[in-house]
Amino acid sequence: PARRDELKARARRLLAERNAVLVAHYYVDGDLQDLALETGGCVSDSLEMARFGRDHAAQTLVVAGVRFMGESAKILSPEKTVLMPDLDATCSLDLGCPPEDFAAFCDAHPDRTVVVYANTSAAVKARADWMVTSSCAVAIVEHLHAQGQKVLWAPDRHLGRYIAEHTGADMLMWQGECIVHDEFKGLELELMKKEHPDALVLVHPESPKRVVELADVVGSTSQLLNAVTGSDRQTFIVATDNGILHRMRQLAPGKTLLEAPTAGNSATCKSCAHCPWMAMNALQGVVDCLEHGRGAITVPEPTRTQALGCIERMLDFVK
Ligand code: 13P
Ligand code: SF4
Repeated sequence: PARRDELKARARRLLAERNAVLVAHYYVDGDLQDLALETGGCVSDSLEMARFGRDHAAQTLVVAGVRFMGESAKILSPEKTVLMPDLDATCSLDLGCPPEDFAAFCDAHPDRTVVVYANTSAAVKARADWMVTSSCAVAIVEHLHAQGQKVLWAPDRHLGRYIAEHTGADMLMWQGECIVHDEFKGLELELMKKEHPDALVLVHPESPKRVVELADVVGSTSQLLNAVTGSDRQTFIVATDNGILHRMRQLAPGKTLLEAPTAGNSATCKSCAHCPWMAMNALQGVVDCLEHGRGAITVPEPTRTQALGCIERMLDFVK
């Protein structure tokens, strides 16, 4: 704890000295989430992270999350320095959608509107008409479907299926998945629900179909958090990365938060639903990137300008 307090104090001082702000995702270490809030930064879902970074006056953004979040911040604010505590923090959805293969997929279906999840590289976004996050994906595809557009979707197959079921849109899908949410198990969740009949079940739409079907609330991380704070219920079963429990506990002290079952989530493994890349973000990394200017995100032109269009289209839509 002494070491932690010392690192936190150093990070706080460096953020002030470098005119920097910390933008964190709910899945990162609780110390980083606390630091962000204590220093005027934000902790939020990916949509709000993008908006916050774009609108903040600070010249330097420290993005605690995974690479696509840092890239989106840089695409939106090329004049700002965007630093990440660990540049190797990536995402299985991003890794599973190589830009060249994705370009070939798009080339083979020129009649479709290309909609990509935020969890993709800048090069993939450069080929897209729209970017969406889990908080606005259904509304945007609904809008496209109402205009008679057919969609090419990438990369999350579970989120894609969820959107298609809700909108009725014609969606051709890339077959990627999040290695964390893909592990939630429907059968075990059903048993857990029976043990806790009064619990509200909260599910992120990157989860498999059977798990989503058992949900009372399906939504982005912020939407799931709001479901906890806005509900009279006492008990919640949470099917998303367990990093979010930190903020849920802070905002809803006294409520009972149960982690939804995963394949390895037994007596011996209590925290399987945790993203290994989100876990690479640490206080030491924040200090190092600010002290030495390490971990700077760059997005080369013309990729940046090409990727900007799909992000701005989304941000205009959700305004
Ligand atoms: P949201 O925070 O936008 O719901 O996204 C979750 C996610 O996958 C981040 O890795
Ligand atoms: Fe990607 Fe899943 Fe990790 Fe989010 S939790 S960054 S979707 S691997």
